[in-house]
Amino acid sequence: MASQFSKDFFSATIFWKTLLALGLFLYLILVPFLNTQNPSLFLIKWASPSSQPSIISPSNTRTNLSHISFGLMGSVKTWPHRRGYLESWWRPNKTRGYVYLDRPPTPDLLPWPQTAPPYRVVDNLSEIFRQTKPRFELMPRMVHGILELFREEHEDMRWIVMGDDDSIFFVDNIVDVLAEYDHTKYYYLGWHSESVISNYWFSFNQAFGGGGIVLSYPLAKALVRDMDGCLIRYAQSSSADLITMTCIADIGVNLTPHKGIHQVDLHGDFSGYLSAHPKVPLMTFHHFDAMDPIFPNMDRFESTRHLMKAADADQSRLLQQTICYHRQTNWSFSVAWGYSAQIYENIFPRSYLQMPIETFGPWAKGPKPPFYMFNTRPRSGNPCEAPHFFFLESVYKSVKGDEIVTSYIRARPRGLPACSSSGNHSADSISRIRVFSPAKKRLQIDRCECCDILRVDNVKAEVKFRECKIDEIIA
Ligand SMILES: *[C@@H]1O[C@H](CO)[C@@H](O)[C@H](O)[C@H]1NC(C)=O
Ligand SMILES: *[C@@H]1O[C@H](CO)[C@@H](O)[C@H](O)[C@H]1NC(C)=O
Ligand SMILES: *[C@@H]1O[C@H](CO)[C@@H](O)[C@H](O)[C@H]1NC(C)=O
Ligand SMILES: *[C@@H]1O[C@H](CO)[C@@H](O)[C@H](O)[C@H]1NC(C)=O
Ligand SMILES: *[C@@H]1O[C@H](CO)[C@@H](O)[C@H](O)[C@H]1NC(C)=O
Repeated sequence: MASQFSKDFFSATIFWKTLLALGLFLYLILVPFLNTQNPSLFLIKWASPSSQPSIISPSNTRTNLSHISFGLMGSVKTWPHRRGYLESWWRPNKTRGYVYLDRPPTPDLLPWPQTAPPYRVVDNLSEIFRQTKPRFELMPRMVHGILELFREEHEDMRWIVMGDDDSIFFVDNIVDVLAEYDHTKYYYLGWHSESVISNYWFSFNQAFGGGGIVLSYPLAKALVRDMDGCLIRYAQSSSADLITMTCIADIGVNLTPHKGIHQVDLHGDFSGYLSAHPKVPLMTFHHFDAMDPIFPNMDRFESTRHLMKAADADQSRLLQQTICYHRQTNWSFSVAWGYSAQIYENIFPRSYLQMPIETFGPWAKGPKPPFYMFNTRPRSGNPCEAPHFFFLESVYKSVKGDEIVTSYIRARPRGLPACSSSGNHSADSISRIRVFSPAKKRLQIDRCECCDILRVDNVKAEVKFRECKIDEIIA
């Protein structure tokens, strides 16, 4: 090792000496001919190592919404009852992209709404498949959507985001997450299914397309260049997402998982999961059509729009779980910002509270557990374990404008006695929790936020968010 080091060091020294001598030589030769204002700078420029290739200026600007193209796979049949999902997040004239239909829209769907993504009809691929028949026509058509989007939207484009017509995207967070990646490199972002068996059936290595498939420009370009070959090679595959992953693997690129992307391969009541979201920015949701509405007493579209009120106020905190304790009563407060809040009549550590309560069921169930790709807590009838559940009521800015106030109202009576082992302090009378958070995006989330209980009276509790202290322990 040592001799290797000294050899390297020695040759490096010779190298720099030579370079310096060369620089000096050039300097002496060239300076008389050049009218340089600052010859010493000139010398340094030539003699110092050029450690990093400089990226040419346009790429130096921060990624914004205009650099992202969205491709949403839909159909004429599903459009009427799904357009509300796309319209909940689409920003007309700001978001770029299209919804891809299987055939031209019927007259009753026209004129096409301004509030929705413009539509395109997918290409007829029968020429590609003249010789090799695909197993399912639909699958290659969905993969081919990447080419159809790239063909139209590659100017000043850095990222392609593919989804379905029932995908819900949180575009501010998508921009902030993608801005941290180098779009000039090959990236394939996504996340797996929540159901173990779905990943087993398809792949633990693939992005599930309803949750969203994110491709950087160079990767999209490479995939598009080989599109016909890819579709023919894997014509027998049963899944569009699997074909996409397989062809990306052929390019030499693998999945970069991101826990903010949600396929939502779950059924039933999603509130347990949403109340304990992983500590990453929320990027997407899928399958809202297949779940119960996420808020009590609202239908699916009302629920989606209600969540978007919080998303419009502050996407960076949306669903981020913040935990604090009221020592006088031995209560734990857990807030999933913009969605729900819980009171437990017991002190629980964060590692416990961040496990979702299993309010939902798996999309597809294997013969035996584990069913989910994450740990869960069972629903409990024990008064020391079962929380009081509150859901988002309203979002507004404080009068001074420096805080956002979200309030959460009780979903239902808990119907249990107080937890006696922690002092018998019932939270039954609390009907509302009000949460104050800074009116400023929180982009650095290497650590969660902390909170203080400002007051608890007979009917309500008030909680204030703040950064955790350096040595603060949440337990
Ligand atoms: C996005 O960045 C580009 C530079 O690449 C700039 O021209 C454009 O104005 C920006 N758009 C927004 C909405 O900030
Ligand atoms: C989008 O832009 C077009 C023309 O550029 C304009 O006619 C239309 O009203 C705009 N739509 C919205 C919702 O701003
Ligand atoms: C696709 O093109 C083929 C001929 O290339 C034609 O026979 C077929 O009807 C077309 N399909 C549709 C849906 O237009
Ligand atoms: C909190 O619970 C502990 C037991 O876990 C108990 O010893 C203590 O007295 C309780 N505190 C209050 C204020 O009830
Ligand atoms: C707990 O409180 C209830 C009423 O609030 C009371 O009936 C019960 O006896 C108390 N239990 C204990 C163990 O103190």
